[in-house]
Amino acid sequence: MNKDFLCLSDWSLEELEKIFTLTSELKSKQKAGMPHQLLEGKTLGMLFEKSSTRTRVSFEAGMFHLGGHALFLASGNTQMGRGEPIKDTARCMARYVDGVMIRTYSQQAIEEFAKYSSVPVINGLTDSYHPCQIMADLFTVSEHRENYRELTYCWIGDGNNMANSWINAAAVFGFALRVATPVGYEPDAEVCKRAADAGAKIFYTNDPREAAQGAQVLNTDVWASMGQEEEQQERAKAFAGYQINMDLVSLADPDCVVMHCLPAHRDEEITDEVMESRHAIIYDEAENRLHVQKAIMATLMG
Ligand code: CP
Ligand code: NVA
Repeated sequence: MNKDFLCLSDWSLEELEKIFTLTSELKSKQKAGMPHQLLEGKTLGMLFEKSSTRTRVSFEAGMFHLGGHALFLASGNTQMGRGEPIKDTARCMARYVDGVMIRTYSQQAIEEFAKYSSVPVINGLTDSYHPCQIMADLFTVSEHRENYRELTYCWIGDGNNMANSWINAAAVFGFALRVATPVGYEPDAEVCKRAADAGAKIFYTNDPREAAQGAQVLNTDVWASMGQEEEQQERAKAFAGYQINMDLVSLADPDCVVMHCLPAHRDEEITDEVMESRHAIIYDEAENRLHVQKAIMATLMG
């Protein structure tokens, strides 16, 4: 079993499906009001270098449900924020807590932290990946549709951290994925190559309509991610035509589901109408961050 949860490609299908099984168990127990204190007396340190609503609240609430405690650290208030080397912070934090969740910019930084940390490290989003989100997303699809691994998934929009993680997921889980991004905003070439080498069934296009045709799961994300705020206007131009609206949804499977990791810019990358439609499973998706991450933490820190 891997020690850290930094990238989906580090995990096998069997291991990830085991996490889903535990997720179902923990979710049922929570809904039934049954105790499930698998991490009694344990502490999670949460280091945030970027904003968050869902990630922070779901990890913190999740630790509480599991009988443990979560510690919120905004990097600006830590010595790391003043330039203390990652390896020093990592080695000290590991002496206080039983696991660390990090939201930061570079994947390299989180990997360096994990290298020096003797306790498990969980990726709560980097510029490269958002693995906890994709686990919650796939678990949500599996609740709404049979045979979640046999559906056709489609990514419309930016080739960002979410897109990269979907590509990793396609390689591990074996589902068909279509990725539609504007020219110049394609996903990471190395991630695509690794997925191709692993035999992933991925089709890349610059045409969102082609990608959406008959697809069962439609997915998008903001056009400018955290850290790209100054590119917002230029991106809005490049991404015109990549909106998930009812017109695009009408090309997909009539029973397709629509997902968004949130926060969403309504009427930009996705219309308000789609978000409020019967296709959207966006709030189940947000809720499942809690359940999936509890299973991830219990797996790594239990
Ligand atoms: N989807 C997600 O990670 O949300 P937050 O940025 O609010 O944590
Ligand atoms: N791609 C977005 C995801 C937010 C959860 C970002 O990195 O800002």
